[in-house]
Amino acid sequence: MKKILLSATAIVVAGAFALTGCSSERGGTPAGSESKAPAGFEAGAKIGVALPDKTSENWVLAGQLFTDGLTEAGFKPDVQYAPASNTVAEQQNQIQAMVTGGAKVIIIGAKDGKQLATQVQAAKDAGATVIAYDRLIENTEALDYYVAFDNFKVGQLQGQALLDGLAARAGHPAPYNVELFSGSPDDANSAVFFNGAMEVLKPKIDDGTLVVSSGQTDIKQTATDGWKAENAQRRMDSLLTASYGDKVLDGVLSPNDTLARAIITSVQQAGKPVPVVTGQDSEVESVKSIMEGVQYSTINKDTALLVKQAITMVGQLQKGEEVEVNDTKQYDNGVKVVPSYLLAPVIVTKENAAEAYANVPKLLDIVKSFK
Ligand code: BGC
Repeated sequence: MKKILLSATAIVVAGAFALTGCSSERGGTPAGSESKAPAGFEAGAKIGVALPDKTSENWVLAGQLFTDGLTEAGFKPDVQYAPASNTVAEQQNQIQAMVTGGAKVIIIGAKDGKQLATQVQAAKDAGATVIAYDRLIENTEALDYYVAFDNFKVGQLQGQALLDGLAARAGHPAPYNVELFSGSPDDANSAVFFNGAMEVLKPKIDDGTLVVSSGQTDIKQTATDGWKAENAQRRMDSLLTASYGDKVLDGVLSPNDTLARAIITSVQQAGKPVPVVTGQDSEVESVKSIMEGVQYSTINKDTALLVKQAITMVGQLQKGEEVEVNDTKQYDNGVKVVPSYLLAPVIVTKENAAEAYANVPKLLDIVKSFK
């Protein structure tokens, strides 16, 4: 099985990729890894949770769930968000303060996964365990674990949803005109999502099924700084002006829901028909949009499940048990393959929404209100 390289340019294709449920390689340790069963620590210890700025609903929810869940499990949570300005430096300071304050485990949703190696090393030197949450932290041996939805799989699902949506909704046979968007360059996930999607889409661009009229297929050209809606909307405005004067735009690969809605707004303001647009995160406004038949798809990465898994890892560390992982091969941070617990993301369209949100009451209620 291949490793997911966090390169901005690589589209890694090495045969079939499958997340084999959550059963493979449980408890495994990669060759050369320093991970071993820790000694445990006192119940009621301080646990640091450093989250990035609130670029999507999932981050807002995660903070609350960590505070509640860790408290309920008997720990003392210290949950911090990096503010929207000076975010990287502030997050570095917050993590350093957690280390100094004696946190036994530090869970990090990185603002910029390339700029935390010093803080992660400091945590390790102080005897704390560091878990990367949702976003991998790069270029450090000191990172102990990664807990995330399988983000490469997210990208693959988005790519496939774009193809499925075009076949179902474009109203004409191929070729289809599409445009591609990717996330913020400082987020390690952005390349993972894009490479996953391009594994599905590139063969279709190469064989002429898909036509990217702007010619912008490189992750640098498609990037959305800071995951900001206004940046995606501005880029979509320019693409429409430059390449879609008399052409119909059939589909857009959008890496998440916030950007999907900005892209849809741009097209609507230009007075053009809404294309097939993908998304991610199951944000409330996007779920409504999907049920109204506007946005085509999203991804269910249930934040409650991810936070729960991270807290389970903290509990195992506290008791001195071996931390359960289910993947020791895929997520390479540049210097080591990080032992990971990966959850399976679920694609959601109008057709399967009721089933996909069966365990997410808030979203299920929205779906039912459209029936
Ligand atoms: C997360 C996505 C989210 C994005 C912007 C990514 O790292 O995995 O779920 O949409 O950040 O907040």
